[in-house]
Amino acid sequence: MIKKINTKTIKLIKFYNLINYNLIYNDKAINRYKKDTFEISGEKAENLEKLKKSISDIKNCELKKSANNIVFADGNPKSKIMFIGEGPGSNEDQEGLPFVGRAGALLDKMLASINLDRKNVYITNVVNYRPPENRRPTEEEIAKYLPYLKKHIEIIKPKILVLLGSTALNALIGNEVVISKARGKWIEKQFGKCKTSIIVTFHPAFLMRQPAQKKMAWIDLKMIREKKSKLKI
Ligand code: URA
Repeated sequence: MIKKINTKTIKLIKFYNLINYNLIYNDKAINRYKKDTFEISGEKAENLEKLKKSISDIKNCELKKSANNIVFADGNPKSKIMFIGEGPGSNEDQEGLPFVGRAGALLDKMLASINLDRKNVYITNVVNYRPPENRRPTEEEIAKYLPYLKKHIEIIKPKILVLLGSTALNALIGNEVVISKARGKWIEKQFGKCKTSIIVTFHPAFLMRQPAQKKMAWIDLKMIREKKSKLKI
């Protein structure tokens, strides 16, 4: 049976076209990140699944008591560029994805400025559960999640590893370095069989509080762009 479209429906369709409804709807935060899932198979997929399972099996963790979801990763597991933040905030905890809130919107802009997006990078955090009140994870929490983070790097095997902010810097490079000195330099490091070039830059949340530092972050981003083209990534 053919259903007749009445004039009210036609007007509504015209109105939706006029306001570009699809574009507006698709650009809502919830949809912006609900995009391509990257079909990977084989050993890498299995190892990532195993890692996610072992993180969800972590016992005696304060963070888990108040968190709603594990925030494992986002982006393309095949990517050779991996970004590491600090830990999930409230939006990330709700969505189960890293960097989907305001800091995530700035991270997306930073990526776009060097022709990258979530389809060609991989993103995770030092801790995979939201610290209550968005506090910094404690040394003990960082130490608990560090072996899993290192394993995560070994599985992804990035050629370029970008540490966003001082928590990621301290966790993976050490506590004796300050971000203002460590940023904007390449550090060669090996995780298991994965040799990678690390660069530290400011965390997007810090850049929102200190916009004057964006010019330094831009220097770091250009270094990533250059390295990417040098390594033919
Ligand atoms: N800040 C982070 O460090 N990670 C997120 O996922 C979101 C905000």
